Amino acid sequence: MKLKIAVLAGDGVGPEVCEQGVKVLKAIEKKYNHEFTFTHGLVGGSALSAKGVPLPDETLELCLNSDAILFGAIGDPKYENSPDAKIRPEEGLLKLRKELGLYANIRPLKVFEPLIHKSPIKEKVIKNTDFIIFRELTGGIYYGEKSTSADGKSASDTCNYTEHEIDRVAHMAFKSAKSRRKKLTLIDKANVLETSRLWRKRVKELAKQYPEVVVDYLYVDNAAMKIIVNPRKFDVILTENLFGDILSDEASVISGSIGLLASTSIGEKSVLFEPIHGSFPRMKGKNLANPLATILSAAMLLEHFKLYEEADAIKNAVEKSIEHHITTPDINSTKKFAHTSTVGEFISEYIIDKKNILY
Ligand code: IPM
Ligand code: MN
Repeated sequence: MKLKIAVLAGDGVGPEVCEQGVKVLKAIEKKYNHEFTFTHGLVGGSALSAKGVPLPDETLELCLNSDAILFGAIGDPKYENSPDAKIRPEEGLLKLRKELGLYANIRPLKVFEPLIHKSPIKEKVIKNTDFIIFRELTGGIYYGEKSTSADGKSASDTCNYTEHEIDRVAHMAFKSAKSRRKKLTLIDKANVLETSRLWRKRVKELAKQYPEVVVDYLYVDNAAMKIIVNPRKFDVILTENLFGDILSDEASVISGSIGLLASTSIGEKSVLFEPIHGSFPRMKGKNLANPLATILSAAMLLEHFKLYEEADAIKNAVEKSIEHHITTPDINSTKKFAHTSTVGEFISEYIIDKKNILY
């Protein structure tokens, strides 16, 4: 298969983890005779420094002309620590999501058996956890009108949702639930927020089209507790933009490291694959960041194009790297931890030729 992949590595550890994602995709290309092209584009703080904007037109153009996007991370303390900064690196990602119509962000969470002890939560609580968060990605408070008063003493963010915005992501979540354990949980704050009441109304209505799916409703505060106390109860979680952002970071604690969680963003004009973690500026350039979330995002990319065997080859190699402790310090507290690039190399080599790997 021919695939044009745009690589937006971004800031912080983004470039080093993306490099591993590309390395692994090149191994797949070679092993399975595909033709992938990789074109890099600037985004975030690095684009701000080079071009004065966090999402240059040529980057957007590149994305629109590609089959898929592999994204690293965004955010740079140089801009973050200044509340007066006019433009922030994050705006690059937000604009990209909006321009490409990436309205559904899919964040699966699974526990890797050999890493179960890495989680601060008890093994018996998290064993066999397997759920997916469907986070609405182009609406809500992220995109509502914002303002700060002239004297700087008050500020506002507005949260808006339309039926249309809710329905399209809800359908995706229902379909996913139908193909899994047939349970969907809508997480909202319907006891307080009008937008949440609209979400509930729509989901109740749409549920009629999916009679085999059992739907339940949780307030976000309660859900934040239940995700930690009883994570196995969840199958498909559907939620709005801000709650999804918060709950997915929280959920990553179950897996033992946020460096393990991959995501797909899907919608109207493109598909984007990215780790859920941030740019982790303190780790930048140290070759210590965990590349597995990006590598697993590359596997999600292949799955999107129905290259299931190839995606499984990546997932198997990732499991092998974990089994053989070829892992970065976040999940390997021994002196024999591996560097970011070593993890990428191991996984690529394992894909190309399992037998010749020495461990
Ligand atoms: C994420 C990130 C982004 C978000 C930031 C970088 C804007 O935290 O993808 O979860 O809030 O959506
Ligand atoms: Mn986030």
